[in-house]
Amino acid sequence: MTIKFASEYKKRFHMSNIYTIYFAPLEGITLAPFRNVHQEFFPGISKYFTPFLVANQTLHFKNGEKRDIVKENNTAKNLIPQILSNKAEEFIWAVREIASYGYQEININLGCPSPTVTARGKGAGFLRDLQSLDAFLEKAFEALENTGVALSAKTRIGMDEKADIGELIAIYNRYPFKEIIVHPRIGRELYRGTPDREAFDRFIKECRHPLCYNGDINGPSEMKALFQDYPTLPAVMCGRGLIRDPAMAREALGGAPLTKEEAKRYVRALEDAYAQIYPDSRHIVSKMKEIWFYMADLCPESEKIQKKMKKSRTLPEFQNAEDEMFSFFKEEN
Ligand SMILES: Cc1cc2nc3c(=O)[nH]c(=O)nc-3n(C[C@H](O)[C@H](O)[C@H](O)COP(=O)(O)O)c2cc1C
Repeated sequence: MTIKFASEYKKRFHMSNIYTIYFAPLEGITLAPFRNVHQEFFPGISKYFTPFLVANQTLHFKNGEKRDIVKENNTAKNLIPQILSNKAEEFIWAVREIASYGYQEININLGCPSPTVTARGKGAGFLRDLQSLDAFLEKAFEALENTGVALSAKTRIGMDEKADIGELIAIYNRYPFKEIIVHPRIGRELYRGTPDREAFDRFIKECRHPLCYNGDINGPSEMKALFQDYPTLPAVMCGRGLIRDPAMAREALGGAPLTKEEAKRYVRALEDAYAQIYPDSRHIVSKMKEIWFYMADLCPESEKIQKKMKKSRTLPEFQNAEDEMFSFFKEEN
């Protein structure tokens, strides 16, 4: 039986808790084949987000960007496309274009810390200038008012330094966002340092929109602790933790931890899915290396094989290394 939705899943497994868990977007990794296979193997994720699509003056998405979001390539339910932009006209075009593919909810990226993005005043870089952000949102919400598309934001809490959190929240409060996902770090930190829970507390107290917490939730116990700290928090978003252990959400919802056999089938299914879009199997190898960068954590003391894996060029060579990796796989991580 295929179970598609978290609520069905919880009912099926008699789960009492009601965590709502989103899969974070990771550029280059959480693409359509990955999302589709993940949902098939590990239902229980309430929303998947696409890596950002760039809205720019060409008013065109790249072929790969479009391919990643069109419905025929996506079986994962509740997929939310994400846009990177700091120009209202370009953003409005992008929202309308994506809506024409059949989406009613779209997310704006206000958190990407990559220097090439932030140097252009996009992603977390947009948080350097809150007045411009406010003006951008005013234009965007006005133009999109009657389109029936709901907008959410995924935000950091500043770029070079912590923004004026009160002002940032006041800006978000001015517009009818569907939800605000907060990754409480500044852009300059990239993925280092500790998420700023004090800043998130301010969001909890002052933001009028439903909130989602994101950042460093790497296991079921951390998730439980987070929901204990914020009992009214509607949702949590996990990225690297879910790539490392694809069954993490299931386990957090009260289900079984990942087994070795399941992990093996999952990895092969990912490779099969990538084979549908990459005729050259070297691309499959390079995609799988990115995933194993996180998953290798499930195989303690496998450093030697990890090196072998990194050096593998062909798919058979790589799959050989994978088989060896699995002999180090530790269940119930
Ligand atoms: C390789 C990589 C690519 C990412 N790409 C995106 C992206 O396209 N859009 C986005 O909003 N966040 C992106 N992020 C940030 C993640 O969505 C998430 O906010 C971050 O990893 C913190 O959550 P985590 O600790 O659960 O992984 C990326 C992160 C990484 C490591």
